Amino acid sequence: MNYPVWEVPKLGGAWVIGIVSIFHVLIAWFAVGGGLYLPMAESKLYREKREDWLPVLMKHSRFFLVLTSIFGAVSGVGIWFSIGLVHPEATSTLIHNFVFGWAIEWVFFVVELAAAAVYYYTWNRIPRELHLKVGYLYAIASLLTLVIINGILSFMLTPGRAWLDVAGTGTEASRFWWAFFNPTYFPSLIMRILACLSLAGIYALITYSRSDEEALAKSRIHMVRWTAGWLAPMFLLMPLTLLWFLHQIPSENRGLLELGMNTIGSGAFTQVTRIAMLTIITTLTIAGVVYLFAYKWPRDLSLGHSIALLGLAVIATASTEYARETVRKPYVISAHMYSNGVRKRDVARINAEGYLSRSIWTPVTSNTVTLGHQVFRGQCMSCHTVGGYRAMTQLLQGRDRKAIGQLLATLHDPPKDSMYRKYMPPLVGKQDEIDALGDYLATISVKPAEAPLKLAPTPAAPTPAPVAPTAPTAAATPDKKVTLR
Ligand code: HEC
Repeated sequence: MNYPVWEVPKLGGAWVIGIVSIFHVLIAWFAVGGGLYLPMAESKLYREKREDWLPVLMKHSRFFLVLTSIFGAVSGVGIWFSIGLVHPEATSTLIHNFVFGWAIEWVFFVVELAAAAVYYYTWNRIPRELHLKVGYLYAIASLLTLVIINGILSFMLTPGRAWLDVAGTGTEASRFWWAFFNPTYFPSLIMRILACLSLAGIYALITYSRSDEEALAKSRIHMVRWTAGWLAPMFLLMPLTLLWFLHQIPSENRGLLELGMNTIGSGAFTQVTRIAMLTIITTLTIAGVVYLFAYKWPRDLSLGHSIALLGLAVIATASTEYARETVRKPYVISAHMYSNGVRKRDVARINAEGYLSRSIWTPVTSNTVTLGHQVFRGQCMSCHTVGGYRAMTQLLQGRDRKAIGQLLATLHDPPKDSMYRKYMPPLVGKQDEIDALGDYLATISVKPAEAPLKLAPTPAAPTPAPVAPTAPTAAATPDKKVTLR
């Protein structure tokens, strides 16, 4: 808790991570899938003596090299910056547990980047056999980076009993392999590999639809069809692994999805479910477009179609990642650390000893609004903003100080069946800190009905002022309103 809070106005820190990660994932997945696609396509061309298509594949490998080694690497570092700033406490926990995991990943990463560069620069310069071997070396190294990072990512959703049993004792490292091969490790790995392979196919279609030379038409049709065949198994296997994955996550985590399904159309949490459904709808649409324009009428595949496929893939990826993140709420590391960095086992102690007193960032003041703001920054801002995403001004729904007090009492000690438990951490701290938070929230709570009324007089105010000395009558006001409209 002794980290400063990074305040991102309107958007909120979580979305900074979200945007950087989705951008990164789209490239990194392509790097892994493309690593296998390229040598497989290359060896197919040699085998079938379709060498006229080799220049197109070379062009594709250049696009691949630039995209993965520059944008992939830079956005990967971007993830470190954003998680370190938004979730310092959780990042610290991950580093303490998995530092060797990351060290191993970076070794594979160096091999991967080197192999990608060698592969691109040695087209037609070294024997074909050797060139293919470089390609497969690349494929293996990049797959291994996924094999490693997947352990760390899936750990956050399902750390597993073995690790949780020792969490906070200082002996967590003894459960490294348990934490790494946690309950969702394998379904996540397979799901990510399938996503990697599908993205590789989609990016290949983009390159292919850009080469429209007449002389290549035959090979083009052949390669587009082959790529459709490459994509087909993903659409069959993806739903199955998704079911396997859902089966592996604890029922508390599934709660939010179920809550959404039961209340569809009315409840607050239809959002998560709708977003999960968006994944299914976009994936089906991708399957349809691939079937029609890559398999059935490959001649008609245009750049527009392939870009649309990528667009759909972006939506599918973003919505899946969003649903996965939401399912983990209110935790950042399930059953161990809440999204705001408070550890579950520390709750009772903080309630007894106080929240602000533990932080070196607490300003020295007796102003309760300032202190309350500090509690808000520390405990609420990882998920809420004041006036942007999940805006506090809106969510408070114009509650007055007394109603806010009742709400905070519920958040502090939520009843067993409270919905809040499913997505919000308990509010921790001593009563005076909770009261301070209430004083602060009261200053930003806007009554929904009040908002338009408050706005209306403001622009009108300068007008009546100069008129006032002359002869203001009660009737003047409605008139003015009419002219203002
Ligand atoms: C782990 C993320 C998370 C944290 C941390 C969090 N909230 Fe929330 N909160 C949510 C979500 C998700 C919703 C539901 C938003 C919606 O319905 O759009 C929500 C809803 C709310 C609502 C509206 C609830 C209602 O029934 O009207 C209030 C008020 C609220 N939060 C206050 C707080 C306060 C105060 C804090 C800090 C003590 C806090 N939240 C911390 C995730 C969080």
